[in-house]
Amino acid sequence: MEMLSLAFSIAFIALSTFVLLSRRRSGRGANLPPGSYGWPIMGETIEFLFGKPENFVGDRMNKYSPDIFKTKILGEKTAVICGPNGHKFLFANEHKYFTAFRPHPMQHLFRSYKAAAAAAPAPAPPPQTQVTDETKAIRQPGFLKPEALMRFLPKMDLITQQQLQTHFAGGESVVKVHPLAKTITLTIACHFFLGINNPDRIARLVKYFDDVTVGMHCIMLNIPGTIFYRANKAANAIRKELIAVIKEKKAAMASGAPLQDILSHMVVATDPSGRSMPEPEIADKIMGLLTAGYSTVATTMTFLMKYVGLNPEIYEKVRAEQMEIAGGKKKKEGELLEWEDMGKMKYTWNVICETMRMVPPLQGTFRDVLTEFTYAGYTIPKGWKVYWTVSTTNTNPNYFKNPETFNPSRYDEGEAPPPYTYVPFGGGPRMCPGKEYARLAILAFVHNVVKNYKWEVVDPNEKVEGDMMPEPQKGLPIRLCRL
Ligand code: HEM
Repeated sequence: MEMLSLAFSIAFIALSTFVLLSRRRSGRGANLPPGSYGWPIMGETIEFLFGKPENFVGDRMNKYSPDIFKTKILGEKTAVICGPNGHKFLFANEHKYFTAFRPHPMQHLFRSYKAAAAAAPAPAPPPQTQVTDETKAIRQPGFLKPEALMRFLPKMDLITQQQLQTHFAGGESVVKVHPLAKTITLTIACHFFLGINNPDRIARLVKYFDDVTVGMHCIMLNIPGTIFYRANKAANAIRKELIAVIKEKKAAMASGAPLQDILSHMVVATDPSGRSMPEPEIADKIMGLLTAGYSTVATTMTFLMKYVGLNPEIYEKVRAEQMEIAGGKKKKEGELLEWEDMGKMKYTWNVICETMRMVPPLQGTFRDVLTEFTYAGYTIPKGWKVYWTVSTTNTNPNYFKNPETFNPSRYDEGEAPPPYTYVPFGGGPRMCPGKEYARLAILAFVHNVVKNYKWEVVDPNEKVEGDMMPEPQKGLPIRLCRL
């Protein structure tokens, strides 16, 4: 009898523990954040992708909590952590509670080499060769460190000048800014990352990168006519083009060409067992890097042209700053921008910052929850995703007075916004590794544009399309006047 009751007790405890654990794993029973998972399967994905980002978070922060709310987006139960305290918590606890998470469409578009490896009969490569994301490749060898950028800056300046000469050819004319900004951005990136300068190749790539960029946040429906289908086709085309470039690079290196770009270094890099990175893996990583730095930089250049074009007094201040820098170079005609010049472009940088506040080039990113944690009194279970977005602070009048006004002076010394309210590049260990590169590329662009041109925005009310990746509907036509 005693044995029977002991057996019952053990079975009861085991069952209770199992139920408790499985409730915890699914998040039931925990004090989860307030919010709604939305529709079955789709969750709130449609509202997230197609509602204005600031409205998506703003409405829910008002309804549930200004600190955190739960939702289900892109197939994942997600806690959206809001406001400056949320940003601080997130940036400070990387690795402890979180690691990077790419939404499923991104994983699919940029991880082809994993699928290929899984399908291949050969044994899987040892774990140390599987660089888990493009970040390691970019952060480790120091390619985007100031020394490398310093060396590349004159080239960046020269490419910008050449592109402006080609596309903004003399006289008064109407030109579209957005396509030009994209071509300049990709031309610079192709030089820097791949060491190539073939205008036809770059023109082809622009269209593909547009489709991939839009496809990073979309519904994964792979049938003709959908965003995801187009993005997949574009990713395959980019991969094909990049593999051709890798082969050319290998041939050039075999005949003694120097290692000058990131691609050459990736081609020769080996893991501790001496294995080099397979070509599809290199292609995917390079595609990830090019995509990360493509629409972000081009969007900022484009909307800067809009806001500066609409505010003549801001144009005059930017031009005055840039002409002073250009004036210092007059003695040596044709001298290109140098590192010290960039430090003097303080007002111009404020204008860039204000452009990124008004039109964030990147809304925010996801994290995977490594271990259950508590925030603002709520429990976030392991395996959930966390999302943070600049839209929880960027337009909040508590942090930015008259947030709808374009006012670069709000970043002047002594006026800086409170900590963690203005984080266009993220923060903590995952902060954008391309920040400095982006800063130089956009400053070089503004320098060359205001030095030579004045412009008028043709349609100040031109519609902005795309909620996750904003772009002017008609490409931002401007009436250009050469000075
Ligand atoms: C105006 C331009 C740019 C903006 C506003 C921007 C913004 C951001 C933001 C907000 C993140 C996410 C940080 C986080 O998750 O905490 C990020 C990540 C990243 N950015 Fe940028 N970025 C820009 C340009 C660039 C450029 C030019 C490159 C490359 C040359 C680049 C490469 C990356 C990479 C590789 C990541 C992933 C980092 C990681 O997951 O650890 N970005 N960027």
